[in-house]
Amino acid sequence: MIRLEQDQTSLAQAAAILRRGDLVAFPTETVYGLGADARNPEAVAKLFALKGRPHFNPLICHVATIDAAQQIGAFNDTALRLAEHFWPGPLTLVVPRLPQCPVDLLACAGLPTIALRVPAHATAQALLAKCDFPVAAPSANVSGRISPTHPDHVFSSFPDITLVDGGACTVGLESSIVGCFDDALYWLRAGGIARSEIEALVGHRLQTPPSEGEDVSKLAPGRLARHYAPAHQLVISEAPPGGDDALITFAGGEAHAGPQTDLSPSRDLTQAAARLYAALYEMDQALTAPSAKIIVRPIPETGLGEAIMDRLRRAAAQ
Ligand code: TXA
Ligand code: MG
Repeated sequence: MIRLEQDQTSLAQAAAILRRGDLVAFPTETVYGLGADARNPEAVAKLFALKGRPHFNPLICHVATIDAAQQIGAFNDTALRLAEHFWPGPLTLVVPRLPQCPVDLLACAGLPTIALRVPAHATAQALLAKCDFPVAAPSANVSGRISPTHPDHVFSSFPDITLVDGGACTVGLESSIVGCFDDALYWLRAGGIARSEIEALVGHRLQTPPSEGEDVSKLAPGRLARHYAPAHQLVISEAPPGGDDALITFAGGEAHAGPQTDLSPSRDLTQAAARLYAALYEMDQALTAPSAKIIVRPIPETGLGEAIMDRLRRAAAQ
């Protein structure tokens, strides 16, 4: 494990590691990303292999500016409006690839579209500014497992990784993903920006992609995979936990003899989002009996609550 600081020299070192085709984990405001030079097929293949990620699931490419994103993808008026309003920030836009797009096809899982994001985290910004290429970066966890919001989470998956240490992530949920095409705008993943905020800007409802059929693999390939799972079984329930189980509450108020944590004593969904993955890691580690479960109380599905419940349902899927 190599831990780099956030100073300019260390970030130049991180950019050089990426440029030579190796991987670097780095902080964003959402979760830690595991970065690779998106143009480099070997680097991208290394990334898929290390994560154990299915090849049908494409990666998000990170760049420092809207201008850089427009060199890679085709932005229609709506896409540009979304980018100008929400970037840098926790929004990913899926747009058609431009013919001159330099990103390796494996990174896009062979799709004619590309996912682009300009993160707001100062360290991510500074690192991307030192890279003259897009950085493909999935969340820095083993495929299917809990996303990392702290360097310790990253090292628990990848003990040998080089990581830029930016402390804990502030948003704590992955970026929201919107597909921007001329015929439709799709809500592809609930995340760090609430659907209502995006709909308020564009002035109409976003379409929900189909949940089955051929369009799923074209529009929302990530939906096919199991996700965000702790090692112990997770159950969303109002029922009393067993003595060996762990309990995750929202706005407290429950006594429990086993491991327990609360996402937000003050019912604050932003705080709950930021705490979610760390709470899952903590409870997973606190449980000893393999059959013990993590019981999570349901969260109100407004604002960021939609993304929190989306993650919990996927984590609970068998
Ligand atoms: O907040 C985030 O988005 C973090 C940080 C590191 O930026 N990244 C992240 O990456 O969550 P990952 O790989 O865990 O999730 C990327 C999602 C997947 O669900 C993938 O299917 C979707 O983006 N995606 C990527 N390219 C796509 C495309 N062309 N069309 C539709 N979905 C796409
Ligand atoms: Mg992920």
